[in-house]
Amino acid sequence: MIYVDNASTSFPKPPEVSEAVARCLSEVAGSAGRGAHAGARRAAKIVDSCRDAVAELIEAERPESIIFTLNATDALNLAIRGVVEPLLRRGERVHVIASALDHNSVLRPIEFVRSLGASVTIVEAERNGVVVPSSVCHALRDDTRLVVLNHASNVTGIVQRAAEIAAACRARHVPVLLDATQTLGHMTVSVRELGVELLAFSGHKGLLGPTGTGGLYVRPGFEDCVGPLRLGGTGTESESPRQPSAMPERFESGTLNVAGLAGLDAGVRWVLRECVKDGFARERRAINRFVSALEKMGIDEAGRGATGSPAEGLSVVGGVSPSAGRVGVFAFVHDTADVHQAAAMLESEHGVVTRAGLHCAPLAAGGRATLRVSFGPMVGVDDAVLAAGAIVEVFRVLAG
Ligand SMILES: Cc1ncc(COP(=O)(O)O)c(C=O)c1O
Repeated sequence: MIYVDNASTSFPKPPEVSEAVARCLSEVAGSAGRGAHAGARRAAKIVDSCRDAVAELIEAERPESIIFTLNATDALNLAIRGVVEPLLRRGERVHVIASALDHNSVLRPIEFVRSLGASVTIVEAERNGVVVPSSVCHALRDDTRLVVLNHASNVTGIVQRAAEIAAACRARHVPVLLDATQTLGHMTVSVRELGVELLAFSGHKGLLGPTGTGGLYVRPGFEDCVGPLRLGGTGTESESPRQPSAMPERFESGTLNVAGLAGLDAGVRWVLRECVKDGFARERRAINRFVSALEKMGIDEAGRGATGSPAEGLSVVGGVSPSAGRVGVFAFVHDTADVHQAAAMLESEHGVVTRAGLHCAPLAAGGRATLRVSFGPMVGVDDAVLAAGAIVEVFRVLAG
């Protein structure tokens, strides 16, 4: 099997990840923050270690700025609803900006706050998949209270000029929420360099952790601008009927997924050791070989298959330029062949596992279903070349 559906969830995970989960489940007799006995202390240590690892990865000011959630969707809901709803409850006018590249995990919470009274602007991307910073700036209004930005599209893989957009927003005192679900673990992501107030991530994609893990970074000082979505037991200030204000408990009510975080800790530490240290070179090599194999078969830099080439009729949405402006997510469309049939045939005849459809981001490829190929650090260069050949071949066969 050649697994190139890492944008859905990464596979395989490093062996340390499942070992850490198994060890936690079989050896840790206690719950983090619940009790002072040895097992509870050990569970708390696992959570702290994972928080430290994520903070190191994204260069957060302090580990307590990382809140653990169920997944990126949970983090995005907390950020969007947590910022907007308290303002609406106070009777303020609230305008929110997002982009056409956004995932439904952004678009649906935004639609929800619109139903509560917020006004919303959806900024379009250019044909090359880039949201031009000036289009975000033009959309800013006096009542804009949040800009949600997709760091890299889970359809086209194009990385946005997030630091530039965040700087423009900061100059207008508008906070930015970055959806870094497709960039963490695939490229350098530093909240200091990006200058965003909030950053949401999945634990089970580029960070190689188990499903059921994710998180939200909240810039120190900005936590007072986010209302909690979930209230309840934190293991602290139990005498008070009010939610504690300390980070991270303020947003982490209920027993944490300690076994999942044990695995996430192992995944993030693997990424720090194997990927960050050499600038993600392993994954870049496979991506570059994939692109050069496609180019050899007739795909040009704009992503269009040349007439008369094996790739005639095939296109990659947003182009294939391997510059720093993309991660390894590629969306294929064909003039005549069906992408769902192509995905089924790729799996059954070539063992290449991809995903076909809208990928929960219905506007990102103009409403068109695509065949998505997405890389992770475990995809080798040979597999990348085989996958490219199989994709071109399958579309050629289906197009007749
Ligand atoms: C850009 C983007 N945002 C959010 C999500 C939601 O992630 P999760 O499944 O971890 O909630 C995804 C998942 O595919 C995504 O690609």
